Amino acid sequence: MQYSKKILIALFCIHLSVFASCEQKNTPSPVEPDTVSLKEASPFPFGAALSISKMKNLEIYRTTVTTEFSSLTPENAMKMANLAPSKKDQYTWDDADYLVDFAQKNNIRIHGHCFVWHNSLPSWVNNFVGTKEDWKAMLKDYITTVVSRYKGKVASWDVVNEALLDDGTPRQTIWLTKIGWEYIELAFRTAHEADPNAVLFYNDYGQEYSKVKLAAINDTVKNLISRGVPIHGIGLQMHTNINQSVDNIVNAINQTAATGLKIHISELDFALNSSKNPNYTVNDTDLATQKSRYRSIVAAMCSIPASQRWGITTWGVGDDDSWLKTNPDFPLLFDSNYKQKSCYYGVQEAFSILKN
Ligand code: G3I
Repeated sequence: MQYSKKILIALFCIHLSVFASCEQKNTPSPVEPDTVSLKEASPFPFGAALSISKMKNLEIYRTTVTTEFSSLTPENAMKMANLAPSKKDQYTWDDADYLVDFAQKNNIRIHGHCFVWHNSLPSWVNNFVGTKEDWKAMLKDYITTVVSRYKGKVASWDVVNEALLDDGTPRQTIWLTKIGWEYIELAFRTAHEADPNAVLFYNDYGQEYSKVKLAAINDTVKNLISRGVPIHGIGLQMHTNINQSVDNIVNAINQTAATGLKIHISELDFALNSSKNPNYTVNDTDLATQKSRYRSIVAAMCSIPASQRWGITTWGVGDDDSWLKTNPDFPLLFDSNYKQKSCYYGVQEAFSILKN
């Protein structure tokens, strides 16, 4: 009896020490605030979508961008409505040029966004009259002009954005109506011809909440590739929120990575006020969930093969920059004064777990 009690105590001690060493491995080492930037800590490019007016007018915004990020996506400046706002063949390059120039001077990668989308179309496109061949020529001409201008400067493009619905069927866009499903192939082939070195993405949202859409996106892309269409990666926008489970998010990333293609978490934000309550006030519990979820998303990205990690891009820099700001929300890594939030340290913790 005495003997077996000793054994039990010894076993308990061994268990405790094993548990303690596991904990040491799994518990993130504390990240010192303000010492290591995201771009220094991240094993892959870490970026943000940028607003041109804030870039031009707000010094703290520019400083945050150059300190923290190694990749940029123009939030709006490279959309069709911005590049060719009023007339076919009449381009407004100023904002996009400014961003490309800034990125080059600061050694930041540019991800271009986006060529074919149902949204942000100039009215001349909505009113365009022509045969299917005229529509194809118009789209081809637009993509060739933009890719050629930034050839060798823009590393990657969202060539087609949001072509599928949540139920996995094709979205009825003007491109589908006027050209047919082949618009996707045309867009990718044209972009590739204009810059064979650019990395080309199909970009969409909802992979984490619709398994049907997740499968449809991956199947569509694989099918196109099997016919020789130059698609190199899939963007998961990941506009997600506090009601979304870790399992669904991680599953979306892993299932997409199983295609073997490059993965870009391309528009990441994490809404706390998913019900869009105009009186929502932020609280510690929600911020803690946000921190843990950001950590899980980054950890999932860290766990896919390094060659497939194109990067993570947050959709904005500070909370006040977010497209979600029509209601109170706090979806990003920096607060409205560009101070790091707790979720910023969640991201850093995911990187420190990877290193340990
Ligand atoms: O720049 C004009 C400004 O001059 C004018 O005074 C103001 C009046 O409303 O509008 C400004 O443009 C707006 C622009 O955002 C900049 O704030 C556009 O109307 C508005 O449509 C545009 O919204 C953008 C939206 O895409 C549509 O292009 C959002 O900023 C942008 O965050 C959002 O981003 C999309 C991604 O491209 C694709 N995935 C979903 C994501 C969120 O919707």
